Amino acid sequence: MKRTLRLAMVGGGEGAFIGSIHRAAAALDGDWRLVAGAFSSDPERNRRSGEMLGIEPERTYPSLDALLVAEAALPPEKRIDAVSIVTPNHLHAPMAIAALDAGFHVFCEKPMALNMEESRQIAQAAARSGRQFGLAFTYSGYPLVEEARVRVARGDFGKIRLVQVEYSQGWLSQAIDREGNKQAEWRTDPARAGLGGCLGDIGTHAFHLAEHVSGLQVQELCADLATHVPDRRLDDDVSVLLRLTDGARGVLKATQVAAGDENGLKLRIYGEHGGLEWAQMEPNTLNLRWLDRPAEIIRAGGPGLADSTLQRLRTPAGHPEGYIEAFANLYRAFANRIAGEVGKDCSFPSVDAGLRTMAFVESVIANNASDRKWTELAAG
Ligand SMILES: NC(=O)c1ccc[n+]([C@@H]2O[C@H](COP(=O)([O-])OP(=O)(O)OC[C@H]3O[C@@H](n4cnc5c(N)ncnc54)[C@H](O)[C@@H]3O)[C@@H](O)[C@H]2O)c1
Repeated sequence: MKRTLRLAMVGGGEGAFIGSIHRAAAALDGDWRLVAGAFSSDPERNRRSGEMLGIEPERTYPSLDALLVAEAALPPEKRIDAVSIVTPNHLHAPMAIAALDAGFHVFCEKPMALNMEESRQIAQAAARSGRQFGLAFTYSGYPLVEEARVRVARGDFGKIRLVQVEYSQGWLSQAIDREGNKQAEWRTDPARAGLGGCLGDIGTHAFHLAEHVSGLQVQELCADLATHVPDRRLDDDVSVLLRLTDGARGVLKATQVAAGDENGLKLRIYGEHGGLEWAQMEPNTLNLRWLDRPAEIIRAGGPGLADSTLQRLRTPAGHPEGYIEAFANLYRAFANRIAGEVGKDCSFPSVDAGLRTMAFVESVIANNASDRKWTELAAG
């Protein structure tokens, strides 16, 4: 039987956003137990965070480097199996590479790194270590996203013609980065966020979801980046026309200045016979529409779902699952892969997804800066 794996977390201290979601998700199915961490670069905040989480004081470390050295020296039955990286983006590459080289599996937040060069270095570290590298493209973890992927792949809609993805947020509509909002502050700083602002933060999610569900790859693009908030140093609004494999066309819209919008991620895919629509704020419904028959509503937990979708559900129909459970599906697949659980869900975004999304970021920026209308998406 698969044992409970031991997890360390870097980042995710008091006041952080995504760390607590990772902790809840990793714990949900009993696959992971958090036993160590370097939760904050602020020593007192780090200590308080470790205490609050019930971590043994000697396993709340002042830094990732200290964590890796000390954990590697522990006997195998106590030592961590994996490190979860939930820090701002500029730390992903150095931390992931250090953890992989120390012999630990890594589950890392997106975007993979600041740029393509760093992303390639992570890919090389993963290859030479032989350890698993998971990437938190959360939305691929939703059960009905899996159902949508399966139905497109088995040809329900015929040849795919249109891929339309929109990720609309409004929380960066004002200069809250200059008013003490911690999450906004590093996301609008090129040194800590990377090449893209909204593009790297949520454009990558939209791009990954579109390619993941459609099974197609973006080959060429035509982009328009905008920065609406005065003196902001990175884009806050992204529009991209897409040319995908097999002649499909697409549109990707990502923005963080749609004032009042929450987390409006929506995907629509249309083939010759019909199409689908999935929206993150109503994640337990998948809408299908057809040329020759009435529309269908597919519900999480309802009849007719694929086996791989059922593996991603925990509750009966009508008991909504959401964001934490989607994350938990990625953590469970990551654990299954590490434990070699053949026949179970071992599917999670990894190095390939990281390289492609980073290629998308760099290609959009290059296109936006060029005079050419269409440019290729440089392969990852
Ligand atoms: N997958 C998703 O849906 C999703 C959602 C939100 C954020 N994210 C990603 O998660 C990451 C963190 O985002 P956030 O919004 O939680 O940021 P945040 O600012 O809320 O949290 C970052 C944490 O990292 C800690 N930290 C910074 N430097 C550190 C260091 N040297 N050592 C240890 N800890 C350190 C901070 O103290 C803080 O606790 C980003 O890469 C972001 O893109 C992903």
